[in-house]
Amino acid sequence: MNKINFIKCPNATIASAKTAEIILATVRNNPQAVLGLATGSTPIETYKMLVRDANQKRISFSQCTTFNLDEYVGLKKADAAQSYRAFMNNQLFGPAHFNLDQTHFPIQWDQPVVANTDYTTYDAHIQAAGGIDVQLLGLGENGHIGFNEPGSSLTSLTRQVHLDAQTIKNNARFFKAINDVPTTAVSMGLQSILQARKIVLLALTPNKLSAINHLRTAQTFNRQWPCTALINHPDTTVIWVE
Ligand code: GLP
Repeated sequence: MNKINFIKCPNATIASAKTAEIILATVRNNPQAVLGLATGSTPIETYKMLVRDANQKRISFSQCTTFNLDEYVGLKKADAAQSYRAFMNNQLFGPAHFNLDQTHFPIQWDQPVVANTDYTTYDAHIQAAGGIDVQLLGLGENGHIGFNEPGSSLTSLTRQVHLDAQTIKNNARFFKAINDVPTTAVSMGLQSILQARKIVLLALTPNKLSAINHLRTAQTFNRQWPCTALINHPDTTVIWVE
């Protein structure tokens, strides 16, 4: 059975405001909340709303702990600005006054991958912090969440992943040339994501509609559309714009 709560919004601003409100309510309820965070163009407006509230002193994120979903591996120094760490520092952590010591990524952007590294220490770290209270997700055109590409297993934990050709093509807009886009990343797995107590997935653009339709109609997990892992989660909201 598909347990997801779908909220269709007339535009991206309303969808972002609803998403921001879910995060704000979590932090109001518990100023020490553990937030699971996403990158990409989708959450930018939501993050702006969180920044605005923090600067108006309506909320404080200073006691929150955060775990980002994923980070590229093998970025050139010249592309440091494209690291997900840089994105989060610029879009949210700096301007909304998070404590940077409490913000975590599964790998540092300039850290080389060492063969046979067990990245599930990230999952253990999340659990040791009390588990994620609310996990924000974007959506890949191919249905990926985090960097869990089609074919990902429902039991996957944090690991090194290879990016799909379509993902590399979609993310090339942020780089000088398509060859500069990293081909691997370290990402939380589907199981890592499903352990969050609350999940909110945001999809704002028409290229996500096919993935959204698979999500709306799914009755079982379909490996080809990794987002369908969410259908059995007890508290997932999908906020989308048609
Ligand atoms: C990236 C990220 C995802 C993100 C997705 C969509 O590859 N790893 O976490 O949700 O792509 O990106 P955008 O929001 O720019 O469409």
